[in-house]
Amino acid sequence: MQEIKFYSGENIPLELHKVRIVQKLHLVPIERRLEALYEGGFNTFRLSTKDVFLDMLTDSGTNAMSDNQLAAMMQADDAYAGSQSFARLQQAVTDVLGKKYLLPVHQGRAAENIISVAYVHKGSLVPMNYHFTTAMAHITDKGGQIAELLYDEAYVVNSSHPFKGNMNIEKLEETIKYHGPKNIPFIRMEASTNLIGGQPFSVQNLRDVRAIADKYGIRLVLDCSLLGENAYLVLQREEEFKNSDMKTVIQTMTSLADLCYFSARKLSSSRGGGICTDSLEIFRELEAFVPLYEGFLTYGGMSVREVEAMAVGLYETLDETMISQSPTFIKYLVGELDKKGIPVIKPAGVLGVHVDAMQVCSHIPQTEYPAGSLAAALFLISGIRGMERGSISNQRDEYGNETYADMELLRLAVPRRVFTLSQIKYVEDRLTWLYDNRQLIGGLKFVYEPPVLRFFMGGLEPTNDWPQKLMAKFKEDFGESL
Ligand code: F0G
Repeated sequence: MQEIKFYSGENIPLELHKVRIVQKLHLVPIERRLEALYEGGFNTFRLSTKDVFLDMLTDSGTNAMSDNQLAAMMQADDAYAGSQSFARLQQAVTDVLGKKYLLPVHQGRAAENIISVAYVHKGSLVPMNYHFTTAMAHITDKGGQIAELLYDEAYVVNSSHPFKGNMNIEKLEETIKYHGPKNIPFIRMEASTNLIGGQPFSVQNLRDVRAIADKYGIRLVLDCSLLGENAYLVLQREEEFKNSDMKTVIQTMTSLADLCYFSARKLSSSRGGGICTDSLEIFRELEAFVPLYEGFLTYGGMSVREVEAMAVGLYETLDETMISQSPTFIKYLVGELDKKGIPVIKPAGVLGVHVDAMQVCSHIPQTEYPAGSLAAALFLISGIRGMERGSISNQRDEYGNETYADMELLRLAVPRRVFTLSQIKYVEDRLTWLYDNRQLIGGLKFVYEPPVLRFFMGGLEPTNDWPQKLMAKFKEDFGESL
């Protein structure tokens, strides 16, 4: 939708917004980037933005906000209880997501905590299309387990399947029969399945999941954090919806779920989060946990300014021009990298570009974390900060053994309306150089490993002096250029 045909014949993803507030960026010399890696334990989460040029760590809380969101923040109604800002948010949730009741929380994982506290016990099993790190951590923290039930196609890197996030319906039914419906507190569907490359599910698949949920009397929970993008890809890829609109697709999806939750840091380009439902019974089951863990029921741990920005951001999610910006840039970058033979997840998904570190670093064993190594190497040679989405992001099993990830990905997030096309071209250029010099990338090992969500604050070090060698080659090829 945002691709404009140029006279040259090229299709260019043209920015349909203008820049009105800017933030200065720094591209520091490679010697400083090397120091920063050692200081940050070769973990991109631990880098300081003063050393980062393009921050592609995540889209969480980093999407550009609109003039209307900022304006709304100024009219926030600061009240502990009964704030008008909350009334506006509730209205937005009803208008956009089609749900009557809203429980506000401070971010997505707070919703996951509350849902898990309420429904997950020792012996519970939660089937899902695929896990997200925090969703899984909250379920296992309460004694539950998860079952990931994607079709095999989901794990194929070079694929043209339009809906790799689809739940495997046959496996879902088998799993329910095997474990017994009473041990399954809910089925979780994640829109734009994050960890397999931002891949959507189809509306038809969600209907099929709903039918199984009804057959066995199990709740269906929809993680809506990336729902806008999933809906946009449904408009692009699902025949039934090709002449539809964002609102119809979004509400068709949310109406199939008993309970929806979201990270507003993603869904509405703001901060915060929420849980919403049409069921008074579900609302009552969860309600008491909000004041206990988050804050009063009309702010849920958020600043009311964020509540206002979230309400406006939710309405803006329905704007196809806005929501298509990031997927269109991603499609462009995936296309350019693919032309050069660099292995990336295909088809292009949402959230970011996902480089297949298992192939790029096929010489690094999974025990030495190829995706983490690639993330560190890219930062070193470019100042681009991506995120490891591979075995470092996995948690150890109950016996303390490593569980190796199905996919070793370097995720380069493309937050909404943040980067320009020349910056995207810089990413393409530096990744191409790194790919041509990939044999110089080496492995990593943990020196500090936190017991929970280790990828956030864990510390690693290179297995030898490969970073120095990579830096030497960079200097040989680029001279004094940054
Ligand atoms: N669900 C999904 C699908 C997510 O992508 C995230 C966060 C969450 C839940 C948790 O929300 O961060 O507000 O607590 N994803 C971020 C990311 C962190 O970088 O992909 P949160």
